Amino acid sequence: QNSKFVNIVEVGPRDGLQNEKFIIPPALKAELINRLGRAGLRTIEAGSFVSPEWVPQMAGTDEVLKLMEKHPDVHYPVLVPNMKGLDNLLALLGSNPPAEGQPPLTDEIAVFTAATDAFCKANTNCTIAESLARLEPVVQLALQKGLRVRGYVSVVVECPYTGKVDPKKVKEVTRALLDMGCYEVSLGDTTGAGTPWSIRTMLHTVMGGDGGVPPSKLAAHFHDTFGMGVVNVLTALSLGLRTVDTAVGGLGGCPYSPGATGNVATEDVLYMLQKSELEAPGDLEALAEIGDWISKELKRDNSSRTGKAIMGR
Ligand code: HMG
Ligand code: MG
Repeated sequence: QNSKFVNIVEVGPRDGLQNEKFIIPPALKAELINRLGRAGLRTIEAGSFVSPEWVPQMAGTDEVLKLMEKHPDVHYPVLVPNMKGLDNLLALLGSNPPAEGQPPLTDEIAVFTAATDAFCKANTNCTIAESLARLEPVVQLALQKGLRVRGYVSVVVECPYTGKVDPKKVKEVTRALLDMGCYEVSLGDTTGAGTPWSIRTMLHTVMGGDGGVPPSKLAAHFHDTFGMGVVNVLTALSLGLRTVDTAVGGLGGCPYSPGATGNVATEDVLYMLQKSELEAPGDLEALAEIGDWISKELKRDNSSRTGKAIMGR
């Protein structure tokens, strides 16, 4: 692994759009994904195979996968909460085999759980232990079918229902997801309440001691509610992490984390990285235009400071 290279996982089309008030047509979601791919991003979350009763905004992800452009060197993960979600995805993949020499609709899923039972129940209607038991066969079958599997742990710093979170619990759940076969675990500061200090304490615990997780197996997934997104990303990078989840225009939020705003903006993180000794893919000017465009389409404010600065020049 080139330690200078930072992977950007663009989560705008999933984390961003799952929280919008209005239902967004699949064609607009596909257009967003197409533009992000053309701007040079190499991992773009394309949607979720979750219950449409729970998150109506993610219904139609099957249509999005069929409509969007597939770049052979881009991964388009989709969230899968349980076997029903994986069954639905596998049925879609089975009935849409790739044409000769073309990539499949997707080659990756992301499974998700949390560091507190309260959040896990609010988000997926089960405890952490139940969710791990539920996810184990999902991960096994996905791996058997040749899909890559990423894991998420939510509320790694603060839980909207129970407050401060024990970093030891974050480590335990992260380990469980890696042991199951996830190639990487993304640590979600879901509420965006983290600061460089609490993020550092949490990462020291997760990476340290017996069974410490190497930074190459971790990703930073930080929401920007308190404006700490960029400094928290820098804190994670300084501790050796090299994968960062971001959302163009700072889109996003979790429907089950009241008051939380979007992810740290792709443009803001790239502006920092492209003026550092580190390297990250993506055409910053093009991404600023995409952030501006999608914010207007969704009739929301562009939350990216960098994006607004570039567009206002
Ligand atoms: P449940 O109600 O307990 O599900 O929900 P169930 O198994 O009892 O089934 C109830 C009905 O839902 C059944 O239908 C199932 O078939 C159907 P019926 O027989 O009554 O007609 N169903 C499904 N339909 C479509 N796709 C499925 C599916 N599963 C069941 N996959 C469940 C449990 C996990 C499904 C639900 O709680 C759920 O979908 N939760 C997802 C919530 C979500 O998407 N949250 C946002 C993503 S996570 C996030 O944003 C955090 C992250 O960004 C990191 C961070 O920031 O921290 C990743
Ligand atoms: Mg999130």
